[in-house]
Amino acid sequence: MLRRDTYLPFGRPDFGDEEMSAVTRIMRTGWVGMGSETLAFERELAEACGAPAVVTVNSCTSALFLSLVAHGIGPGDEVVVPSLTWISTANVVRQVGATVVFCDVDPGTLSVSPATVRAVLGPRTRAVIVVHLGGLAVDVAAIRRAVPAHIPIVEDAAHAFGARFADGRPVGASGNLTCFSFYANKNLSTGEGGAVALADEAVADRLRSLRQHGLPQDAWKRFVDPRRLETPRVRELGFKMNYTDLQAAIGRVQLRRQPVFARRRLDVARAYRETLAQSPWPFVWQDGLLDEGHARHLCLVQLPIERLAWTRHEVLAALRERNIGASLHYQPVHTMPLYAGATPFLPVTDRLSARILTLPISASMTTDDARLAASALVEVLDEARESRVSLGAAG
Ligand SMILES: Cc1ncc(COP(=O)(O)O)c(C=O)c1O
Repeated sequence: MLRRDTYLPFGRPDFGDEEMSAVTRIMRTGWVGMGSETLAFERELAEACGAPAVVTVNSCTSALFLSLVAHGIGPGDEVVVPSLTWISTANVVRQVGATVVFCDVDPGTLSVSPATVRAVLGPRTRAVIVVHLGGLAVDVAAIRRAVPAHIPIVEDAAHAFGARFADGRPVGASGNLTCFSFYANKNLSTGEGGAVALADEAVADRLRSLRQHGLPQDAWKRFVDPRRLETPRVRELGFKMNYTDLQAAIGRVQLRRQPVFARRRLDVARAYRETLAQSPWPFVWQDGLLDEGHARHLCLVQLPIERLAWTRHEVLAALRERNIGASLHYQPVHTMPLYAGATPFLPVTDRLSARILTLPISASMTTDDARLAASALVEVLDEARESRVSLGAAG
């Protein structure tokens, strides 16, 4: 049996000496909260993703939540969300008091399409959240044309930092509130963290205030300038969702290293495709996996599940036994007990949820790691087919 000596996680950050000295530099200043380093990171992020403004927050979940608050979404409103996503995309809708309306996805992109969104629009629809699943940019211009102009589109780009739309513009540049994640395993990792990229400066100012209790946006300066003796005048109920300079210091280094990371991810995805193309198994890959614009946060593949005696959970368990940290993205949110009662008609999502698997991919992986993981997958599928053959023979 093929087995790695060490566990290969599905996503793993690449932190080196540069990130470590950046953190040390900030610690030596004595100021580790939100300050000038965060502002510098925001400026660099804005430039990288072609957005006039970027507002950092403590997670992508907070970025999505504050985006809905900024759009005035609340009780009585419906928000369209794909079910094939991480649970926070849907939870934020409930957290602002609105109702989740699940929509289906396209079988090729695994993300929402104009048709799947249009199918669930109703008189109470107040927003649509589009998820760039795995790092493949959804055609948001086409979604925009399918949705009435008064309904805002929010982009969940947790997987898509560095991704590009078909016209070459970076995800973040559409003008929609676009939410990124800098969580531990993301392409640009600062442990935790998130950001909203947007075009409207007034909304950006509001987000800056909302992330810090509704304080005036430059309130942090009162800590660094002892001569400032202003009394903050809070007018709006805000939250405690700010980013920190310690994280920003890591983020600035990670941002500079993105081209190298992107290259390594492409090499890993190619190694999977080449190795698995030599097997007799018919794998179905996400559209555009090897395209220039794909951020390749996830390497998503559909298993030929009808030819196996095992479920995808059993395939996953057999891979984990071999120290290959494959994973599942996702168990559809509408099947979670929290969403019991919602019985949306999502045939593509339901079909995918039985067969889709995430192969490990990260900038800290090598192509040899990918080749071994691919061979282990073939070995597992061969075993799963043999079980089916012997079950058939017994029956
Ligand atoms: C699609 C999607 N949306 C939102 C999030 C939330 O990101 P965060 O952990 O930064 O809150 C995640 C996290 O992995 C995600 O995968």
